[in-house]
Amino acid sequence: MTELAPIPDFNVYPVRATIERAESWDTGAQVFWSDGHVSRYHGLWLRDNCPCAECVNPETLEQVFDISTVPDDLAAASVAVDDAGSLTVAWPDGHTSRHHPGWLRAHCYSAPPVVEGMVQSWGSDFVVPEFDGRDVLDNDDALLAWLEALHAHGLALLRNCPLDDGSVEWFADRISFLRQTNFGRVFDVMTKADPDSSAYLSIELPLHVDLPTRELQPGLQFLLCHVNNASGGDSIMADGFRIAETLRDEEPHHFKVLSTLPMEFRNRAKTSDYRQRVPAIRLNDDGSIHEIRVGNFLRGPQHVDEADMPRLYAAYRRFIAMTREDRFRVTFRLDSGIMATFDNRRVLHARTAFDPASGDRRLQGCYIDTDELNSRLRILRRMAARAHASA
Ligand code: OGA
Ligand code: ZN
Ligand code: ZN
Repeated sequence: MTELAPIPDFNVYPVRATIERAESWDTGAQVFWSDGHVSRYHGLWLRDNCPCAECVNPETLEQVFDISTVPDDLAAASVAVDDAGSLTVAWPDGHTSRHHPGWLRAHCYSAPPVVEGMVQSWGSDFVVPEFDGRDVLDNDDALLAWLEALHAHGLALLRNCPLDDGSVEWFADRISFLRQTNFGRVFDVMTKADPDSSAYLSIELPLHVDLPTRELQPGLQFLLCHVNNASGGDSIMADGFRIAETLRDEEPHHFKVLSTLPMEFRNRAKTSDYRQRVPAIRLNDDGSIHEIRVGNFLRGPQHVDEADMPRLYAAYRRFIAMTREDRFRVTFRLDSGIMATFDNRRVLHARTAFDPASGDRRLQGCYIDTDELNSRLRILRRMAARAHASA
């Protein structure tokens, strides 16, 4: 009995279907699985992904082999299934590749790619998921549950959070390192003398994302409430993806404008000058929504072709009008010890005006990038899969 082929990856690939039969196909192999699926792999793909210790460095698991070094007409000499159930491919130069069935099936391209956690947009009936802040700090299962919710919905609340100065960063540290900005590693949201942002006044902040002025908007925003006993200062959030999807359904001409014409975003400050010229709605290759940029107080003078300016204003005004519609909004109050965490490239956040004479209001906030959330989530899932596989 041979051992299963090595996996050129630190992840776990359970064998959910076994290889019943493999035969030569094109330059590579056709694989018949026990669940009836048939996968086809080209010779160049199979050779490129050879996991052997010559082709992949066994310590880093990074590829050493260079596919540009094989002949254009490379084709497998023969293909078979070994005793352990791995696909074996013999190459004309004598090299042999063995592919683990779990890995091979997970990377089958005879079917559409598996999307990591489908995004479901939400409206006003969304029940914001809530978790316990101390559990998230102490326990990896609680951390995973919170991150899964953030990944799926782009918004979750933590109750019972410690209120030490800077404790918001402890939560970000549970995921990864911070994304620093000109507002500091950790920023205090409170009324300030000499404010450099509307956030530091007591006025209403309409639905917006933070830092649309950056090439890459911060992915996750954390806002931990230390005190909120002023009158007003309630929180409102909306799923920007849902608003954009609805606009696409209801008024596709406006959607087209906002997803193609660039808008100007400006940060006006004494010591920094960030600008960005990009569409308010950015799409993925498949047409799904990638990210949203809106922020009334963070825009510059728009600059598109003369003929396009009326279209741009019509579409933009419609989008902003939609952000004020009840069907998209959830409302809650950040009280002392509650933290909101949200996908700043998807979920819009707002606060109502508050009266600073009536009490105190102070939040602490910070950001991390989406890559950090995704990487941490994959590692926690990997640990959970390992624990499951060895149980
Ligand atoms: C901000 C902000 C929300 C609030 O600081 O960017 O949106 O509730 N604050 O004060
Ligand atoms: Zn090899
Ligand atoms: Zn904000």
